Amino acid sequence: MSAQQPLRVLTGITTTGTPHLGNYVGSIRASVRASQQPGVQSFYFLADYHALIKCDEPARIQRSTLEIAASWLAAGLDPERVTFYRQSDIPEIPELTWLLTCVTGKGLLNRAHAYKAMLDKNAAAGADPDSDVTVGLFMYPVLMGADILMFKAHQVPVGRDQIQHIEMARDMAASFNHLYGEHLVLPEALIDSNVALLPGLDGRKMSKSYDNTIALFGPRELMRKQIMGIVTDSRAPGEPKDTEGSALYQIYRAFADDAEAAAFAQAFADGIAWGDAKQQLFERIDREIGPMRERYQHLIAHPQEVEDLLLAGAAKARAIATPLMRELRHAVGLRPLQASAQTPSAQAATKTAASSFKQYRESDGLFYFKLVDASGQVLLQSRGFESPREAGQAVKRLQTEGAAALPSLAAHIDLHASQPEAQIQNALARRLDATEM
Ligand code: TRP
Repeated sequence: MSAQQPLRVLTGITTTGTPHLGNYVGSIRASVRASQQPGVQSFYFLADYHALIKCDEPARIQRSTLEIAASWLAAGLDPERVTFYRQSDIPEIPELTWLLTCVTGKGLLNRAHAYKAMLDKNAAAGADPDSDVTVGLFMYPVLMGADILMFKAHQVPVGRDQIQHIEMARDMAASFNHLYGEHLVLPEALIDSNVALLPGLDGRKMSKSYDNTIALFGPRELMRKQIMGIVTDSRAPGEPKDTEGSALYQIYRAFADDAEAAAFAQAFADGIAWGDAKQQLFERIDREIGPMRERYQHLIAHPQEVEDLLLAGAAKARAIATPLMRELRHAVGLRPLQASAQTPSAQAATKTAASSFKQYRESDGLFYFKLVDASGQVLLQSRGFESPREAGQAVKRLQTEGAAALPSLAAHIDLHASQPEAQIQNALARRLDATEM
């Protein structure tokens, strides 16, 4: 196997809206910082295929794609350093979606929260269970699985509502690997508990659906006006004010360092007028956002620059996606007819042609593998394992340790009666040569 991969982190943003201050504090800012860490390979993409699931307004999708891309770039995402691309520029993603569709149980998708919520809503309304449910909505987790597995991401930073989707992507990868060999990496959800949830103008969580947002890169004057509209209590100037439960204070806290926050709290205790507190908040936010706003407005006015960056990102992404897809097509049997049954991955494959592991599930519900030589002769046969993982681990040991692993696996393996052990040892040793290349 090749040397250890650097840690790969991947996340997608659905292109249906315009980023607001809550998105900046809750995800963009932390992601941009994380992408600057050494030793991490980051993938950020605009999930525009996902946008089609909930939005049928073409102009809005196009506009949102531009606005989200410009926001991330303005906030400091460096497209030289990370791989920043648009999902629909990667044709391998829908291609992988289909392969995953064929290894994903319908029952798994039946359990997806977003789909179940629709069923519940329809039941409550006395409507047909699948009323307003597109197959796109139903398949959402598979498309998302393809996004993640295509780039062999180890970690996927997401909100809590998305954890289930990452677990489903793991299931899809495990099923695929079980059927076709170890091709895909099992991802993990990364939940950052430090990330602030920003309150909106009315004190509830800032969210487009509550219509209580502060625009991130709108005109400067708009931001001032919106901040002046934050709901406060009716205490007069000179009366001490509570920071506890104050949306104004919490928003300030998300931008301030400890000393600034302490000074702001003191001003509250000293009875600062709400209007003055809002002005201070505006100035503090504008200090961070102001310079980014200029870059944002430049990019919005020059969409060709954003387009070029995204296309360059897509080329970088496809340098990974195209060869993996070739490997996966081959693995499932979508092959040129003249090609032999061996993997296309260069000479290593030639050496292993003599034998290969097959993993499968029997009608008894257990998981099995066998080692088969080029002519289809079974060299060894496993007994049933409870889980695909245990079967996979035994295969992995045979692949890495060769015949040396046989004695300790004896309880799980039948050496095929007609095959002399030496032949098996030989086959495993040849595999070992190959895997170590
Ligand atoms: N479903 C995610 C959301 O709505 C967006 C998304 C699509 C995504 N593909 C992804 C996130 C892959 C992480 C990884 O927030």
